Amino acid sequence: MAITNFIALLLLFLRAVSASVHLGIDCGTSNSYTDGLGIKWVGDGAYVQSGESHTAKNSEVSSLLSTLRVFKSKKKNCYNIPGFQGIKVLLRAFFYYGNYDSNSSPPFFDLLFDGNKWATVQTVNDNWKNFDIIYVPKRQNISVCLAQINPNQFPFISALEIWSLDSNMYNQIDSSHALILNQRFAFGSHNRISYPTDPFDRYWAAFSSNGLVSVSNSASSVDVTQTKDQVPSAVMSNAATTSSKSSDFLVGTPISAQEVLIYLNMYFTEVQDLNSSSDLRRFNVMVDNKVIDVVNPAYQTALETTYANITASSKTRIVLAATSDSTLPPLISGLELFIITDQLSNSATNTTDVEGLASLQEGFLVLKEWSGDPCLPAEYPWDWVNCTNDTTPRITSLLLSGYNLNGPLPDFSSLDALQTIDLHNNSITGDIPNFLASFPNLTLFSSGNPYLCNVTCPNPPSKHHVKKWLVGVLSSVIPTLVGAAVLAAVRHWCKCCKSRKEKAKPSDSNAGELESTNRTPLRTPRREAMPLKRTAQKVVEEVTRATIEQGTNSLQNGEGEACAIELRNVWGVFV
Ligand SMILES: *[C@@H]1O[C@H](CO)[C@@H](O)[C@H](O)[C@H]1NC(C)=O
Ligand SMILES: *[C@@H]1O[C@H](CO)[C@@H](O)[C@H](O)[C@H]1NC(C)=O
Ligand SMILES: *[C@@H]1O[C@H](CO)[C@@H](O)[C@H](O)[C@H]1NC(C)=O
Ligand SMILES: *[C@@H]1O[C@H](CO)[C@@H](O)[C@H](O)[C@H]1NC(C)=O
Ligand SMILES: *[C@@H]1O[C@H](CO)[C@@H](O)[C@H](O)[C@H]1NC(C)=O
Ligand SMILES: *[C@@H]1O[C@H](CO)[C@@H](O)[C@H](O)[C@H]1NC(C)=O
Ligand SMILES: *[C@@H]1O[C@H](CO)[C@@H](O)[C@H](O)[C@H]1NC(C)=O
Ligand SMILES: *[C@@H]1O[C@H](CO)[C@@H](O)[C@H](O)[C@H]1NC(C)=O
Ligand SMILES: *[C@@H]1O[C@H](CO)[C@@H](O)[C@H](O)[C@H]1NC(C)=O
Repeated sequence: MAITNFIALLLLFLRAVSASVHLGIDCGTSNSYTDGLGIKWVGDGAYVQSGESHTAKNSEVSSLLSTLRVFKSKKKNCYNIPGFQGIKVLLRAFFYYGNYDSNSSPPFFDLLFDGNKWATVQTVNDNWKNFDIIYVPKRQNISVCLAQINPNQFPFISALEIWSLDSNMYNQIDSSHALILNQRFAFGSHNRISYPTDPFDRYWAAFSSNGLVSVSNSASSVDVTQTKDQVPSAVMSNAATTSSKSSDFLVGTPISAQEVLIYLNMYFTEVQDLNSSSDLRRFNVMVDNKVIDVVNPAYQTALETTYANITASSKTRIVLAATSDSTLPPLISGLELFIITDQLSNSATNTTDVEGLASLQEGFLVLKEWSGDPCLPAEYPWDWVNCTNDTTPRITSLLLSGYNLNGPLPDFSSLDALQTIDLHNNSITGDIPNFLASFPNLTLFSSGNPYLCNVTCPNPPSKHHVKKWLVGVLSSVIPTLVGAAVLAAVRHWCKCCKSRKEKAKPSDSNAGELESTNRTPLRTPRREAMPLKRTAQKVVEEVTRATIEQGTNSLQNGEGEACAIELRNVWGVFV
């Protein structure tokens, strides 16, 4: 009794140890439920900020596939999934078009993971597809993105799930590569094998073909403990074989048209209790007529072989061929064929830049819909940034013209590689922040923001008082030279918005006005700041010149009202 209890406990313990952590996300719904197999699914609201929910027209389909999330705006939309950093996972995405838009026009689009290309998804009218990948996420969040290829075709997704795997599974490659599933078969089986028969819910497709013979294993059980990838014993209970010893068994086709590196797992077991003095089953594994292995499967025991360095294309022939001394044809029970990805980009956009973008997103909630890596993969940056083409990309442009930005500019000073900030046609309020002056080579476009500078220049000073006004501000509130440069430029902008002619007369003012200014301070109560005065004067003159020159440039560039301030030379003037 005690022993039985102990064994039961032990089994429970073992089960617990190998249990997989699972997260199932049903896209386009907020419902959570447990499906008929006992797999738990949650709605996708916590993982994605964009997209629309839709319902597949076909009501026959499982509840998992009956809803989908469609992305009609933005080139790239992403799910962010925390909790799996450093854990080997099987990540699976489901796509079922289900004619949700009544257009009978299933789209195609790209699927990305963690800044890497995963697949091009070509959806079909009347069937669903799943894409599986195995890898070790390096980032805090797994990011799964859908990227538009054709402007008239909207990416969508039906479900997303993650199963944790044991770290020693699929370990013939290092963690800087991922395995993209190409095919996974249970030969001779009549049904797909999956959860709970496979505790990791790998989908083992039933395989049969005209030239092959399905056989069932006469053994009542097969020991699978020798297989490091934990093949389910159900996969080993059947096999497929050729009709005669002289015909070869062609496995694993078709692979991609181009040559790729593949990861091939094959699972073998003898299906009959052979008379060892008269029967022998032995066969070669051959790649394009070259023998890479010899297999002699044992009864009641599963054998797994892994080949992780075969380069293959659709022309490659991988065959099992009986050896000359074999009395029986080759056989196989299970196969997994993956494409090994290129080295994963463990690169990510410069983290200080990412923080700067996050501040912008906090400041302007309309920008929160963008997630995933802002710059990677390089073909799919966020719609409103340009990046350098480096392994650690930097953000060089913010292209936010007409993005409905409403409110003051937040502190995004960490984006110090910015060269262009385009804020045309928004509703930005308040000042242009000081930190922009420290960006070495910046061009800022800000016209079409009626409330920009609203705080500080409700009534712009008249032509003759521009300098006085500027200096008043400068000598009272500016703490540093750099700050002075920016504010001077900002004030100048406030003025120059009104008229181009005024800008063309920088020499109107004289030094005397510096002392005599007594305009009401616009923001901070005026304090005496004598030591700054001389500096301020210099700043004003030089900055005025710089900004006017740039202002003229931008006019020539067709800026219209000339509401662009260009700070491009500001740094150069003072350093
Ligand atoms: C990770 O994902 C969660 C949920 O989507 C999100 O709240 C969080 O900001 C993400 N963290 C990072 C570093 O992207
Ligand atoms: C095994 O094969 C040998 C040779 O054909 C035969 O003599 C023997 O009886 C067989 N044994 C069994 C158990 O069938
Ligand atoms: C695969 O690797 C093995 C051992 O590392 C090597 O002997 C064999 O030549 C390689 N095969 C190919 C096709 O590169
Ligand atoms: C990101 O950029 C900053 C400069 O602002 C630099 O100091 C930092 O090293 C960069 N980080 C990486 C990971 O390249
Ligand atoms: C941003 O990138 C796009 C696409 O590469 C390019 O056409 C555009 O000129 C870039 N804009 C800036 C300001 O760099
Ligand atoms: C980015 O750099 C890579 C390699 O340095 C190059 O092959 C690629 O064409 C570049 N892409 C762009 C858009 O400049
Ligand atoms: C800003 O909006 C106006 C009016 O809608 C438009 O004519 C102009 O082209 C826009 N400017 C930019 C840079 O998009
Ligand atoms: C500044 O920008 C100009 C043109 O936009 C470019 O030619 C120059 O190399 C940039 N300088 C620096 C230091 O980035
Ligand atoms: C801009 O200033 C005007 C005049 O002070 C005020 O009426 C208006 O409400 C302000 N607009 C915003 C968006 O702050």
